[in-house]
Amino acid sequence: EQAKDSGKSGGGDKKITMGFSQIGAESEWRTANTESIKKAAEEAGINLQFSDAQQKQENQIKAIRSFIAQGVDIIAFVPIVETGWDTVLKEAKDAKIPVVVVDRDVKLADDSLYVAKIGTDSVKEGNNVFKWIDEYMAKEKKTPRDGGSQYNVVVLEGTVGSSVAIRRQEGFKDAMAKSPNAGKYNILASQTGEFTRQKGQEVMESFLKSYGPKIDILFAHNDDMALGAIQAIEKAGLKPGKDITIISIDGVKGMFQAMIDGKANCTVECNPLQGKLLMETAKKILAGEKVEKLVYVDEGVFPADVAAKTLPERKY
Ligand code: AHR
Repeated sequence: EQAKDSGKSGGGDKKITMGFSQIGAESEWRTANTESIKKAAEEAGINLQFSDAQQKQENQIKAIRSFIAQGVDIIAFVPIVETGWDTVLKEAKDAKIPVVVVDRDVKLADDSLYVAKIGTDSVKEGNNVFKWIDEYMAKEKKTPRDGGSQYNVVVLEGTVGSSVAIRRQEGFKDAMAKSPNAGKYNILASQTGEFTRQKGQEVMESFLKSYGPKIDILFAHNDDMALGAIQAIEKAGLKPGKDITIISIDGVKGMFQAMIDGKANCTVECNPLQGKLLMETAKKILAGEKVEKLVYVDEGVFPADVAAKTLPERKY
């Protein structure tokens, strides 16, 4: 296909075609990520073949194989889980189609099977969650609800096997182990809520049934699960953000609103706006320029006291 707007596409006069496999639409964050990628492709004059895997790795593998069969110029994908990509990425390499990994990480025997990874630092996000909790509990002079000597934490984990769930948990536990206050915390329960509001609510309901009066802190691997859990906590007659301290990861508008309403305490940002960087990277790769193997986008930490001031500036 000839370029309709050759000036914009870079890497010669042919319009670039990118095959992109997204994992689905499980969260407010994911919707923002998809929009960012679609908008950036349009602005960059890149022809985007978008495929939604509906949360199934097998659908992603099928999509990548179909991109290879179509002979797209470049493939980008968000790996739903860390492992199981070696064969299909080898097929892409053999077909001389460069691959960019977006948002989540892959574990491969041979890292030359992808050219670049653009995304976020999940270990750092998990670290930041614990550090914030540790400072907050000391500052607020919180006492454990069960009258004991430890704060009891429940965790809503993300998709099982995903790099983000594995590394956020790792980062959280690691920061806890390194804290001089490590002995003050006890992880009571930790279970997947699959990154969705619905599942977050259901699992929180079961945590409350089993451990209700003991729970001091909820760490949700994403905001959507925290928002679902808030409903469960209210249904149980407790005050989210007060009886139970709530922190999660993402920084979506819904979580800012929950903080403004006094129902949540902090969100650690995970920036979904990765489209522009992806398109720039794709153009460079196809123009034969050298690119960084790993690029992380910028991220912040937003506690409730800055939520009202920050919400109007939020882009997702
Ligand atoms: O991979 C990023 C995670 O996936 C986000 O935290 C979550 O909201 C999403 O579904």
